[in-house]
Amino acid sequence: MSKHSFLEIQGLKKSYPGQTKGEETVIFEHANFNIEKGEFICVIGHSGCGKSTILNILAGLDEASDGLVFMNGKEVSGPSLERGVIFQNYSLLPWKTTLENIVFAVRAKWPHWPKEKIIEHSKHYLSLVGLDHALDRKPAQLSGGMRQRVSIARAFSTQPELLLMDEPFGALDALTRGVIQEELIKIWSESKQTVFMITHDVDEAILLSDRILLMSNGPHAQIAESVTVSIPRQRKRTDIIHHPDYYKIRNHLVDFLINRSKDLSGVATQVTAGQQPKTINLAS
Ligand SMILES: Nc1ncnc2c1ncn2[C@@H]1O[C@H](COP(=O)(O)OP(=O)(O)OP(=O)(O)O)[C@@H](O)[C@H]1O
Ligand SMILES: [Mg+2]
Repeated sequence: MSKHSFLEIQGLKKSYPGQTKGEETVIFEHANFNIEKGEFICVIGHSGCGKSTILNILAGLDEASDGLVFMNGKEVSGPSLERGVIFQNYSLLPWKTTLENIVFAVRAKWPHWPKEKIIEHSKHYLSLVGLDHALDRKPAQLSGGMRQRVSIARAFSTQPELLLMDEPFGALDALTRGVIQEELIKIWSESKQTVFMITHDVDEAILLSDRILLMSNGPHAQIAESVTVSIPRQRKRTDIIHHPDYYKIRNHLVDFLINRSKDLSGVATQVTAGQQPKTINLAS
């Protein structure tokens, strides 16, 4: 038997009933891709192409119209603690403090752990995102950036096998975003969890990911390419721009978004059923 990848997405399709009876609007189709354990994957594509829908299907919160998702060789159906989700809107429990929000999640994951261990574990993750000083504050007393840090700490603290993030920094200003990106790298380098993240920011994708999946425009959107980010870790925002591959990768992504994503969409380009996205490696 051949070795399977940690996550295997096969022939995924999402469609909705069309205007007239019997018709369907195909959002995306033939989505085939694999993710290895510990990989950090970003997905980029124009608004409406179906990124969040794919993420929600991986989370078990939405159903595919066709196709299969396997994690560790087992078909994914419904939500599970093994797949953690971080949304843009934080979704913290407003009546609980920062620490209590994490403790709540950690206790749900490991109900048999003694209280001290749960608290120590929770505090550790909060310190990784620089929130030691805000343990006793309620979400309403935190800034947007701090709330998103709590969400990140909470998601990582329960150590799900797969972390799904839907534009987690979309609502943050550029400076805060930069700081949290580096905290995310720190927390991820420690945990080596597998991450599937949606972003609209090409620089963010290059900074964070091992590979970037490029989605063509809908309807009939497809996962067209998988771009390898050939810049070694540890990466810092201020350093990676000097790496010879940085602008090659960046130009490729921008060119895809501006020029090529619409040509690759539609029924005309047939990515056939089992075809994987084209691998692009621009390493010098
Ligand atoms: N219930 C529905 N009926 C019909 N179409 C729908 C329904 N829900 C979503 N869609 C369509 O599915 C498409 C994909 O939506 P999705 O939210 O996955 O896009 P996205 O790539 O995440 O976009 P964005 O970057 O704006 O977040 C959109 O074009 C949307 O209009
Ligand atoms: Mg979306």
